[in-house]
Amino acid sequence: MSFRSAQDSDAEGIASVLQDLFDAGKRRKSCTAEFVLGHYISHPDRIGCTVAVDQGGRILGFQSLRHAVAGNPYDVAVGWGIIGTHIRPSAARRGVGRGLFAQTLDAALGFGLTSIDATIGADNAEGLAYYEAMGFREYRQLEGAVSKVYQLPS
Ligand SMILES: CC(C)(COP(=O)(O)OP(=O)(O)OC[C@H]1O[C@@H](n2cnc3c(N)ncnc32)[C@H](O)[C@@H]1OP(=O)(O)O)[C@@H](O)C(=O)NCCC(=O)NCCS
Repeated sequence: MSFRSAQDSDAEGIASVLQDLFDAGKRRKSCTAEFVLGHYISHPDRIGCTVAVDQGGRILGFQSLRHAVAGNPYDVAVGWGIIGTHIRPSAARRGVGRGLFAQTLDAALGFGLTSIDATIGADNAEGLAYYEAMGFREYRQLEGAVSKVYQLPS
């Protein structure tokens, strides 16, 4: 497995990760490569977007980090980071998420972030356990969701 910054040409591969999660009942919306480009790869507030690929170049998962700007749809404090993680169900629990977070942390430190928000469905036990294991801690509860924060050294 290796890690690299996502490029436009990864849009189809990332969409297929999201499709696998949808098919497994772990995601509510189906999605297209166009959505992936706009929402992750080319998003104007992107700080980082890293893909994990196997030896054959297949995308196993990805992690996005965005800058929280005024009016962000997640109501995250301005200046924080906003993280999202999606791993192909067939590649789960093999350290892909852990490896991606090491890359994202580098990007966060390079950008000068002090806090990263992860907002997770309250019923998403694996998502909650994953972020807790990465060092995120709960700081607020929303309707049907829990937000955890990772504090970086300032
Ligand atoms: C949650 C998710 C990102 C975890 O990714 P992953 O690549 O499977 O995670 P890793 O294998 O790197 O696991 C890292 C640690 O997280 C925790 N963890 C991960 N999956 C877990 C699970 N199903 N149950 C309990 N703990 C879990 C463990 O502490 C694990 O360390 P360990 O394997 O040494 O015990 C992945 O399952 C996923 O994409 N799920 C669907 C989408 C999602 O829920 N995204 C996050 C919330 S929005």
